[in-house]
Parts: sequence; C-alpha cells; structure tokens
Amino acid sequence: MGKNLILETIAREMHTGVVVLDKNGAALYANPFFLKSFPVNGGIEGKSVSESIKSELLLKSVEAFLKKRGGASEDIEIAEGTRFFSVHIVPIKDKADFSLILFLQDITEEKRVETIKRDFVANVSHELRTPLASIKGYSETLLDGGMDDKKTLAEFLRVIDRHATRMSRLIDDLLILSRLESHQMTIVASPIDLGELVTSTVKGFEKQARDKGITLSALVPEELPNALGDRDRLEQVMVNLLDNAIKYTPSGGSVSVSAFLEAGCVRVDVGDTGIGIPAGDISRIFERFYRVDKARSRELGGTGLGLAIVKHIIQGHNGRLGVESKPGKGSVFSFSIKACR
Ligand SMILES: Nc1ncnc2c1ncn2[C@@H]1O[C@H](COP(=O)(O)OP(=O)(O)OP(=O)(O)O)[C@@H](O)[C@H]1O
Ligand SMILES: [Mg+2]
Repeated sequence: MGKNLILETIAREMHTGVVVLDKNGAALYANPFFLKSFPVNGGIEGKSVSESIKSELLLKSVEAFLKKRGGASEDIEIAEGTRFFSVHIVPIKDKADFSLILFLQDITEEKRVETIKRDFVANVSHELRTPLASIKGYSETLLDGGMDDKKTLAEFLRVIDRHATRMSRLIDDLLILSRLESHQMTIVASPIDLGELVTSTVKGFEKQARDKGITLSALVPEELPNALGDRDRLEQVMVNLLDNAIKYTPSGGSVSVSAFLEAGCVRVDVGDTGIGIPAGDISRIFERFYRVDKARSRELGGTGLGLAIVKHIIQGHNGRLGVESKPGKGSVFSFSIKACR
C-alpha cells in the first residue's frame, strides 16, 4: 500500500479541517472538511486564508508566523459566525522553505454544553441562595434576642420552615430530573387506569382550589380503556400540571381536567382560565428553570422545574405533550399516551 494513498485517505476522511499555507500565506492545500467548513468560491488554493476565515485573532497569528518564519506551534480558539473552532497552528521548515499547517476542530457543540452546564450551576446556586439567606437572617435575629417574644419566635420559625421546605423541594426536583436524564429512573409501563389517576389527583387538589376560590372539575368517561404507563411517574405529571393550573389562575377562575380516547391513545387535558402564556414564551417553558415571570413564580414557591420533569416523563412514555394558551384567557396542557388494546 502506497504511503501517499494512505495519507490522502486520512486527509480526506478526518473530521478536522486542514489547510497548508506557503511562506507567503497562500494556500497550497485544503482537505475536504476545511472546504466544507469554510467554503470559498472556486476553492482556496493559491489564495490567502483571509478569503474564508474572518477571525482577526487567527489572521494576526498567521501573519506573525509568516513574518518570523518559524517558532513553536500554537493553539488558539476562534469564533466564526455562530461556530467555534480550536486551531492548532504548526510551522514546518524544510531547508530554506517554510510553510504553515492549520488544524481546525469544530468545538461548537462542546461550547454549547459548557454554557448549559455553567448556566445550570448559576441557576441552582441562585435558587438555593435566596431561601438560605432568609433562613440565616431570621435565625440570626432570633439568636440576637428575638426569641424572648413568643409570638415573634413562632412567626420566624414558620418563615424558616417555609424556606427550608422550598430548598428541599428544589433538591428533590433536581434529583428527579437528573435521574430521569441519566436514565436511572426508568419508566416501567404497565396497563393503568388513567381515568382513575386523573380523578384521584384532582381530589388531592380540591382543598387547594377551594382555598383559592377556584372551581375544580374532572370529566372522565366510564368506558375509558387502560393506558400503557408508569403510574407513579404519571401521577407526578398530573400533580405538576394541576399545581400550575391552580397557581397561575386567579381567584374566581376554573380548572377543568378531562380524559378521553383519541386515535388509539388516552389523552388528558388540563385546562384553566388563568393568566395564560405569551406566544413568545411557549417554546421555552419546558426548559429547566424557565419562568415567564420570575418574580411572580418565585413568590408562589416555584423554581421552574415542574414542566421540565413533565416533559421528560412524557418523552419516556413516547407520548405527546402539547400546550395551547392565550394570555389573559387561559391555558390547556395536554398529554397522550398509548392505550391498551
Ligand atoms: N397553567 C399555566 N398558566 C400560565 N402559565 C403557566 C402555566 N403553567 C406553567 N406556566 C408558566 O411556565 C413556567 C414554567 O412552569 P414550571 O411548572 O416548569 O415552573 P414553576 O411552576 O414556575 O415552578 P415549579 O413547577 O418548579 O414549582 C411558569 O413559571 C409559568 O410562567
Ligand atoms: Mg410548576
């Protein structure tokens, strides 16, 4: 096997852009991946890299190499439009001749994951800091003599308890999400009576609805077939949707839940006459920590994880999840999963 053929195949198939520049900075060779990532009309050969790459950082570095005709290889990171590349620049010398090889690796995806991770840590820290600051403030006041008054003591302890509950709920939700995402919490589907699940979770919210002055109703047909699902996980879905419907509906409104058969699936609709969701936010509400009105949701005790959990669970069932909403009129969240035949 000829060495040239082997080298040619490597250059053609590798997922790294390679471009070789001569001592004047004109391209001698570019592999297909480079040409695909940085297309130039009529090809790059004989032209300067600035024809295809706009990053000033890279162009400056290339210029410096060409000027001093040598030096140690260098690694830089560049942004090209919406993409990111890590660039390894290697000067090679052959007698009086000099050329420069650039290896460009697309690291856009790594960058994206990095950003998600960073945002996630920032969000969690922020969500924990708020209740923790209250707990610390109130307990310090008590220790500073506030304990003497029995009424103040009880009141402050209640605040501390509320914030501690909030923190433990946040941790619980994060653990559920992380288990769902890492597939440690598997969905075990078996025939379940979704109608009964709907009726019983709605019952569980009757007091909460009554206290807020909201009419709560459930409509489930007698002959609804069983669905294939994981009862505990679907109960979590119902609890999150009902909690939202009641939370985001002002006093005097109503929340109605219905279950029915549709195209071989059992579908559940949770409708409310609440504040609704602006069209621009709809696509984002299933992201973790996303809340339309941060201040308002936090006041109501929310951290924006409920719908992220709902989405994971329904996806785990290969089900469908949808929402229709009109600001000021109300929202309907629906999910459907396969019925048993
Ligand atoms: N039924 C609804 N009506 C109006 N807005 C809603 C409704 N359900 C969800 N939202 C919006 O979507 C956002 C995300 O909902 P999600 O359930 O994930 O978080 P949350 O309710 O704020 O907090 P958590 O569920 O963690 O307590 C909410 O903050 C709210 O802005
Ligand atoms: Mg919620």
